[in-house]
Amino acid sequence: MKTVKDLQVAGKRVLVRCDFNVPLKDGAIRDDNRIVQALPTIKELISKGAKVILMSHLGKVDHKDPVKLAEGLKKNTLAPVAVRLGELLGKEVVFSEETRGEKLSALVNNMKDGDVLLVQNTRFEKGETKNDPELSRAWADLADAFVMDAFGSAHRAHASTYGVPELLKAEGKEVAVGYLVEKEVVNLSKVVDCKERPYLAILGGFKVSDKIKVINSLLKKCDKIIIGGAMAYTFIKALGGNVGTSPVEMDQLDYAREMYASGKILLPVDTVCANDFDNPTEVKVVESKDIPEGFEGLDIGPKTREMYMAEITKAKTIFWNGPMGVFEKDAYQAGTVAVCKACAELKGKAFTVIGGGDSAAACKQFGYNEEFSHVSTGGGASLEMIENDGHLPGIDVIG
Ligand code: 3PG
Repeated sequence: MKTVKDLQVAGKRVLVRCDFNVPLKDGAIRDDNRIVQALPTIKELISKGAKVILMSHLGKVDHKDPVKLAEGLKKNTLAPVAVRLGELLGKEVVFSEETRGEKLSALVNNMKDGDVLLVQNTRFEKGETKNDPELSRAWADLADAFVMDAFGSAHRAHASTYGVPELLKAEGKEVAVGYLVEKEVVNLSKVVDCKERPYLAILGGFKVSDKIKVINSLLKKCDKIIIGGAMAYTFIKALGGNVGTSPVEMDQLDYAREMYASGKILLPVDTVCANDFDNPTEVKVVESKDIPEGFEGLDIGPKTREMYMAEITKAKTIFWNGPMGVFEKDAYQAGTVAVCKACAELKGKAFTVIGGGDSAAACKQFGYNEEFSHVSTGGGASLEMIENDGHLPGIDVIG
């Protein structure tokens, strides 16, 4: 696959799809990691003398309900990203409020070699998530070449991630992946097709139903899967345990039993539970199969921590997606911290990957992000890459 390094783009208009879907609070960026990760590609194109046109989505925009649409347009502006990117690049980033039309064309026509322009949120266009051909045409007309660097969005076959490169490629224009996508693919390929064993997967998070496809795929690929987070209670319930008021997906019990029968799944043996989520008067450790009525499991317990840490210590390859408990609260973060610590101790001895999302946020919060071999910028994308044996539409379209 061609990468940004191979492109001859001096004086050309290069459309770069980034994933600037960053967390915002009251209009302020809470974590600029995705912007920082996009810098190598943008800098390379600037140094090559390209006219760099950046596109990204931000959040979800509901086009069906007019009230929600108005809220979405207000809340999900990329304007703060243009400001932060300008600071990080040390140069002006022009921001286009328009997603297509005459004003945008005029801004593009005025660009000089090495200039950077960021276009407003692609999802402000109704046709973006539908991969609308007319929209793809309008955006493709802005560009002489295309670079896909939005790893976090590569599982979406949308107009800006799929329609545009498909059109440009068909016209013989240059299309390539950026440095971030290249780095993600190189690292995640090692957990898609694992050579260094034992291969341990660590899965957590809320719902079993969100992880069905990835569990199926991981059961074929890895030697063991350790389970934590709220999804563990569906497994425990399926095996006949009492889980109190912990969340359970009743429609997944058969599936959970079937997966457990593989013999590869490890479940928590003890659980930290509380009698109220927000204002508990009692927090205690109990056996996972005996969570009392009125108590909710919120983290793995100390025995499980020991057991999981011992498994982690033996592994040569690790893929981790989903925290072990409600790590945002001090009382329920020990399980997730234990996983971070055990993986950190493997530095230099094993290949450890975090598949984006909440576990990436947790490892950053606890100061372990430099200790992992790779922390992906894409939660959904890294899971789908494993599910689809290394394939993602937004990357396949480039190759
Ligand atoms: C993400 O944050 O996972 C990506 O930016 C994709 O966002 P989406 O789930 O809204 O498509």
